[in-house]
Amino acid sequence: MAQRIAVIPGDGIGPEVVEATRTALDAVADVHGLDLAYDDFDWSCRRYVEQGAMMPEDGLDILREYDAILLGAVGWPGVPDHVSLWGLLIPIRRTFRQYVNLRPVAVLEGVQSPLRDARPGDVDLVVVRENVEGEYSEIGGRMNRGFPDEMAVQESVFTRAGVTRVVDFAFDLARTRGGYLTSATKSNGIVHTLPFWDEVVAERAAEFPDVRWDAEHIDALAAKLVLEPGRFDVIVGSNLFGDILSDLAAAVAGSIGVAPSANLDPTRTFPSMFEPVHGSAPDIAGQGTADPVGTLWSASMMLDHLGHQEAGADLLAAVRATIRSPATRTRDLGGTAGTREVVEAVAARIRA
Ligand code: NAI
Ligand code: MG
Repeated sequence: MAQRIAVIPGDGIGPEVVEATRTALDAVADVHGLDLAYDDFDWSCRRYVEQGAMMPEDGLDILREYDAILLGAVGWPGVPDHVSLWGLLIPIRRTFRQYVNLRPVAVLEGVQSPLRDARPGDVDLVVVRENVEGEYSEIGGRMNRGFPDEMAVQESVFTRAGVTRVVDFAFDLARTRGGYLTSATKSNGIVHTLPFWDEVVAERAAEFPDVRWDAEHIDALAAKLVLEPGRFDVIVGSNLFGDILSDLAAAVAGSIGVAPSANLDPTRTFPSMFEPVHGSAPDIAGQGTADPVGTLWSASMMLDHLGHQEAGADLLAAVRATIRSPATRTRDLGGTAGTREVVEAVAARIRA
């Protein structure tokens, strides 16, 4: 029976990079004999403007039936970013308990890192971001709007179950990689939630004696990621710390256009969602120049999650080989190719 994938191209360059990725996925499916079926959903800021909502009321129930979700990007000038985020992405992440946000970072061959010393092969790490609780909570409020004593309060929520499961995921992942985990903290300044985070990490570490680990304060960790990115293997952090670190790490890797992400429900109760890290890039939308690599890499993670590890590895290898040449990489990577040319080269390599 076919595995069913819900596709949400979204706004701006989202549809361009998703369409390109479908071409590569079709090639991988042919070569590896995969039975993948796709349904497209036009949920987006465009839909919000026309119909008043990013997705239909039963949107989440529709998605629930799928094996995975592939998303381009959402966001468009004129629609506030919190509408596109809280009207689509965050409900998907939370309703489907996608408690791990996984963001691999590598300096790929053919990509110039802004760091002088970061060469391909030197940087190869994964940020594991807690994705459903922490600082991104709905608990809090505003009072006395418009008066001099106006105030805002927002509570962070760290639960033992929530920290344990994401930390366990990170330790497990470290075990399959370099055997080294870094926990992002700030327990010197944030005196309740982050000491709690540290305690849980230390407790769980006892279950993974084969993984070396340490804790770093987020400020120092940010500096070290720039100064010695090659030192890190798996980094685990709360929702906010993980968000910031993964964008920083993606910048270190050279281009936002190549960074992938997976929002995972590791229990597989619900569909997981795969999306590039970049947004809808209104400045280059419609020009056919968007870098499809972030979405292609995300699709490779999707194949992996669906149990097709070889196919996923094949796709990523084809992408890596393709962007080595300036003729088959996009302008953000110093190349001359358009989106289609990149993906046609990727598909040809897969079929070869
Ligand atoms: P952005 O990632 O869309 O663009 C930042 C810069 O990177 C732009 O100069 C853009 O041209 C470039 N860029 C991004 N992706 C690229 C690609 N694949 N190839 C070549 N260049 C690329 O971030 P920005 O401008 O802050 O946000 C634009 C819209 O996207 C906003 O509405 C924002 O809310 C939304 N957004 C959505 C995300 C999502 O759907 N997960 C994530 C980030 C932003
Ligand atoms: Mg971010």
